[in-house]
Amino acid sequence: GLPTRVRIHEVGPRDGLQNEQAVVPTEVKAEFIHRLAAAGLPVVEATSFVHPKWVPQLADAEQLFPMLGDLDPRRLPVLVPNERGLERALALGARRIAVFGSVTESFAKANLNRTVDESLAMFEPVVRRARDENMHVRGYLSMCFGDPWEGPVPIAQVVRVCRALLELGCDELSLGDTIGAGTPGHVQHLLAALNEAGVPTTRLGVHFHDTYGQALANTFAALQHGVTTVDASAGGLGGCPYAKSATGNLATEDLVWMLHGLGIETGIDLGRLTEASAWLAGFLGRPSPSRTVRALSHK
Ligand code: HMG
Ligand code: MG
Repeated sequence: GLPTRVRIHEVGPRDGLQNEQAVVPTEVKAEFIHRLAAAGLPVVEATSFVHPKWVPQLADAEQLFPMLGDLDPRRLPVLVPNERGLERALALGARRIAVFGSVTESFAKANLNRTVDESLAMFEPVVRRARDENMHVRGYLSMCFGDPWEGPVPIAQVVRVCRALLELGCDELSLGDTIGAGTPGHVQHLLAALNEAGVPTTRLGVHFHDTYGQALANTFAALQHGVTTVDASAGGLGGCPYAKSATGNLATEDLVWMLHGLGIETGIDLGRLTEASAWLAGFLGRPSPSRTVRALSHK
């Protein structure tokens, strides 16, 4: 059966805007996040405390985060790769973080300048300290369904990194299809394998990029398997600067349209959400790739 409620983890301001060529002014980012929160998104991933040379688009994290002071920081996760990143986040009052590992060696090198195991070792003190500070910790896994350099990714590799991140103390995991190569059968196989390995489905979220148009179908497969946390980006913004073949995430509006059509609650006001994405698309100077945003904007 399908769940009655799904928690959408909005990643547009982080995963979306990290990949925009244009420099988006900090004030625009802040307004976008406020609009998303006002549309009812329970969680809005705000920014990353990474090296500014690695992701220049998010180099304004120190300026942006204080502009969100009226929102509960437990609704505003931030990406943190290492202890330096955690210190920066803590100094600004962040209460929820995500570390981001890779299932493949190629992407671990490209994204974190580390091997898979070296990155896990880098996260270990970060997760420990964050838990001591009573923060909520998410662990991302990239390239769970395919890798641009290595091709198909063995399920056993995903299982290993999942278990390692849970052992570090992550509260939840997000299974990333960074390049959008996965298909629904693959999703089912992976979730079944994780179940068998003792990874509770309740701790898993899914993070689909829509490169091959499979994101919504993959999400449906995950829902059928009991997953209730789904990542999406408003207006379908997104990609990854260190994986060139990646396009945007599953669009939040397309997801909400499907979920509400299925009678699944999200707490989201689709009209307000669409307005936020259309507003940002106007600012970026190109139409949103979300089919639902386009359809509702033409009404
Ligand atoms: P490195 O070059 O190995 O860094 O990069 P290092 O540890 O050798 O340190 C070098 C210098 O950087 C030092 O300064 C550090 O202080 C500084 P120096 O002593 O030379 O003056 N430094 C920092 N400065 C600010 N903030 C920090 C920080 N850390 C070190 N946090 C590093 C390693 C992890 C820093 C780098 O590789 C990095 O920043 N990577 C981030 C890449 C990234 O953000 N990618 C996008 C997010 S992942 C994603 O999008 C996938 C996802 O959506 C899921 C999916 O779709 O699959 C989540
Ligand atoms: Mg992503």
